[in-house]
Order: sequence, then C-alpha cells, then structure tokens
Amino acid sequence: MAIAEIKPGIYYVGAKDYDRRLFDELIPLPDGTTYNSYIVLGSKKTALIDTVDGTKFHILLANIKKSPIKTIDYLISNHSEQDHSESLVKLIELYPDAKVVTNTKGKEHLMVHLHIPEDKFIVKDDGETLSLGDKTLEFIEAPWVHWPETMFTLAKEDKIIFTCDFFGTHLARSETFVTDEGKTYESAKRYYAEIMMPFRKLVQKHLKKLENYDFDMIAPSHGPVHNNTKFIIDAYKDWTSDEVKNEVVLPYVSMHHSVKEMVEYFTEALIERGINVIPFNLAVTDLGELAMALVDSATLVLGTPAVLTGAHPAAIYAVYLANAIRPKIKYASIIGSYGWKCQLPGQIVDMLTRINPELIDPVIVRGKITEEGLKKLDDLADKIAAKHRELGILK
Ligand code: FEO
Repeated sequence: MAIAEIKPGIYYVGAKDYDRRLFDELIPLPDGTTYNSYIVLGSKKTALIDTVDGTKFHILLANIKKSPIKTIDYLISNHSEQDHSESLVKLIELYPDAKVVTNTKGKEHLMVHLHIPEDKFIVKDDGETLSLGDKTLEFIEAPWVHWPETMFTLAKEDKIIFTCDFFGTHLARSETFVTDEGKTYESAKRYYAEIMMPFRKLVQKHLKKLENYDFDMIAPSHGPVHNNTKFIIDAYKDWTSDEVKNEVVLPYVSMHHSVKEMVEYFTEALIERGINVIPFNLAVTDLGELAMALVDSATLVLGTPAVLTGAHPAAIYAVYLANAIRPKIKYASIIGSYGWKCQLPGQIVDMLTRINPELIDPVIVRGKITEEGLKKLDDLADKIAAKHRELGILK
C-alpha cells in the first residue's frame, strides 16, 4: 500500500480495509474503513501517531519500511481502543527502545487491554509537549470522544492536528485527502451518529477548545485527511447544535400489512402538514442510516405490531440503539397494531430513558386500521405539527 507525505516530514503509513463490513460486530461499514497511522520525522527523534488494527499490522510494517525513518523513538497513543492500539504490542517488540506516549488514563487502559509493561510509558497530560528536534508535539486531552482517555496530538510547527476517531469516517478510498466532500459529509455524519452523538455536549466543548489551537489540517485515524478544516468543523457544529429539524424519523416493522398501512397513511398525513418524514423499514434497513437520520430530527415515531403482547423484536432493537446513541429528538410517539392484547406504549417509553422525549399520545389499534383509526393518525400528525410550530421549525 502506498505511503503519502502529507506535509514535509509527516507521512501517512496507515492501512485501508476496503472489505470490512462490520465494526464491533454491530456497526455496518458500507464503505469499509481505514486505520490511519502517521510518522512525524523530527530532526532528532521520530514518532508514530496511532497504529492499526492487529489484522493489518503487516501493512503498517511494510509502510514504515517504505518511509525514510530508521527507527521509532515514540509511539503516540491518542486512543487505546484496539483498532488503533493493537499493533503497539508488535511494534514494541520490533523497536524495543521506543516509548509509548499517552496520558495517565491512556496508560492505564493500555496496561489493562494490551498488557504493555509500565516501564514502556512516558505520560503526557493535557498541554504537555514532546520535542522531536525541529518539530514539537502538544497533547490535548479530549475525554469521552468516545472513551475516557481520548486525546489529540498537535504537530505545532506543521499545524496538523491528529484527532484519532474525532472527525473520522469509515470510508476506505485510495486517496489520502478528502476529494469528495459530499461523500465525506455523509460518512462523517454516519460516524458521528454512531460513535460521537452519545457525547454531544462534550463534543461541543471540545470544538470550543480547539478554537485555541492553530492548525490547517486535520488528520483523523479513520478515513481521509481534511485539508479543508472548516468543512468538517462546521458540520460537527451543526450536528451538535441544540437545533432540530422539521423531520419525523419513522422506523417501523410490519408483519401482516396493518402497521405498513398505518405508516403509509401517516407518512402522507405528515407531508401534507409540511413535515419531512424519513421512514425506515426495520426488516431491511441499514441501522447506520437510521442513526444518521436521528442526528437532526425533532421527532421519532415508532411503528410496530404486537408480538406476544410486546413490540416486535426488530422495533425493540432499533429503540434500544436509538436510546443508546442519545439523539437530540424532542418528541416521540408510537403507532401500532395488535391482535388480542398489547403492552406497547409502556414497554417502549420505558426504554427511552437516555433521551427522555415528550411523549405524544400513541395510536395503537386492534387489527386492520379503521376510519376511526385513520382519524387518530390525522390527530397525531396535527399534534406533531403543532409541536414543530412551537419550536419554530414549521411555519
Ligand atoms: Fe477507532 Fe474508538 O476506535
């Protein structure tokens, strides 16, 4: 795999994983991913910033050998999750004089997860620096994006900030830099929704903190490098803002068409009232797309039949994930159908503890929907429209 000099003396030596289709055995990766690793070659010392997933160590090693460095003095760990740290173990064997540089929390994590001995570490906490001769690295703590130990590394003279997962994308492309901002925006939004959104308030804080630093390139550890830093920072500011959009996200599952019929009617009812709707058939949907839709929307409405009196398992799974990623939705409701008995609203409401939206009266009908049921769906659409008007997002 090719290496790339992204600024004088700074090399991309990471690995691209075009074929990976699942992360954490959970997150869909329609565009694969990359594990970015960077060499910073100073006049006196050399550092490697983040490593790669253990499955791609051979690529990292081949790339290091293609680079002009003779040895590695410092292995910088911005984040101890294994997709960036796993190869540290083999690198320590190959470069026994190298020290692992991370913060106090990062050291604790790496000792626990990878059994790296304590004497291998140099601890650098927030604001501390490390000289490589003519290049200086500064460490900026940024906890909880998305683990407690996460930090950024700033190459001060070169004005590059290495942010690991932050500003990352699961997007494997042969190009080192962003070339297609539309595609990158979509991938970055998906990544934000799945990984960063649970920590939205902290992300806001970190974005503010970054205003104090001088950089003109963002080099994350997944996906392409950002030359246009404003593009990705503005996108993050938008996604993390407290504003919501005039949208209803409508994940649903239907077994015998009753819920499907309700969803189709309700979708039209919302559109007629000037509200955008994003329906997802949970039997076939990519849950990453659902996560992305939840970044901005004001309202979540779940459509489900009753299965053994509770919600359909696909609906429960989607609600569990939605609650875990903590979108900023303001309102929620449920539409559903049951055969003989159901405990639908209570079961779902009890699962939304991390979001705590205002519940708008659900519409649960028995069997196939009737004219009276359709009228209730119209009433629900009216109530959502009124709520969106109160927020000022619907004229
Ligand atoms: Fe890409 Fe949190 O690891």
